[in-house]
Amino acid sequence: MLILNTLTILLQIIVVGFVSILSMNIVRQFTSVARKMAVLAPAIFVNHGGGPMPLLGDEVHAGLTKFLRDDVQKHINLKEWKAIILVTAHWEESQVTISSGKHHDLYFDYYGFPPESYKYKYDAPGDPETAQRVHNALKDAGIPSKLDSQRGWDHGVFVPMMLINPEANIPIIQISVLENQDPKQHYEIGKVLQQFRKEGIAILGSGMSYHNMREFRYGRYKDAAVNKEFDDYLTKVCTAENESERKAGLLAWRDQPGASEAHPPRAAEHFMPLVVIAGAGGSKPAERIFNWDMSGAFRLSSYIWKGE
Ligand SMILES: *[C@@H]1O[C@H](CO)[C@@H](O)[C@H](O)[C@H]1NC(C)=O
Repeated sequence: MLILNTLTILLQIIVVGFVSILSMNIVRQFTSVARKMAVLAPAIFVNHGGGPMPLLGDEVHAGLTKFLRDDVQKHINLKEWKAIILVTAHWEESQVTISSGKHHDLYFDYYGFPPESYKYKYDAPGDPETAQRVHNALKDAGIPSKLDSQRGWDHGVFVPMMLINPEANIPIIQISVLENQDPKQHYEIGKVLQQFRKEGIAILGSGMSYHNMREFRYGRYKDAAVNKEFDDYLTKVCTAENESERKAGLLAWRDQPGASEAHPPRAAEHFMPLVVIAGAGGSKPAERIFNWDMSGAFRLSSYIWKGE
């Protein structure tokens, strides 16, 4: 009797053990299927305009605002996005810095605007786990980086995001550009970020394809785009079929006609997010999804990379 009981218990242990190993395998398989099922997210570069002006309904920004609020939706599917790695021109550091908090307050990094523009809310969550994985991936590629759980999300983040995704339901990992403005290093950062797109994590660059404060202020030109030649160059390079030509074209951007008018020397921080995004773009060419002359004078372009 005793022997029989012992045998039954032993048998039960074996059965339970077998079933749990089986179910663990099933869970594991499901997880990998879920990862595989994630739709490839795009790498996309947008222009964020001047301070909070797109959010204030500024007339000069009308085309840019409409694009961020309405037209960009035709090219992306936010429902497929698991998170957004967002490279902002308004955060320059000596090494790549990655927002790693569960929550980040907004950082109102502009001056002299109406009181309402210091009260915006954008409560999308942070994503500490992805932040850590980005940190690790950069480290594996030999690129120094650090985590920062404190710094708020600057207007390079919340201005476009309040228009693109007012629901604020997709986690964001804010990433700095490098203060050295070295195009090669920025392209390589993008190359590292590219792998996250397979998990449905979009890589979004927030800057300006043309950014000359002096010209914005004095607005001496009215009747034609001042930067047509440089803008044409950008489009030619970003939409090039051949990835190595695309890379070479972006790395040589400084030497192109109109480059220093579009982004004055040592003030190319608004261009760097585009270089990162091109690096994250993969082997297929970009599509230009926005091309509009602000004040009839300053041509702005946005690009999206959808391929692997
Ligand atoms: C891309 O361009 C490079 C340099 O111009 C060239 O060596 C390479 O063969 C090209 N690749 C393809 C697939 O055309």
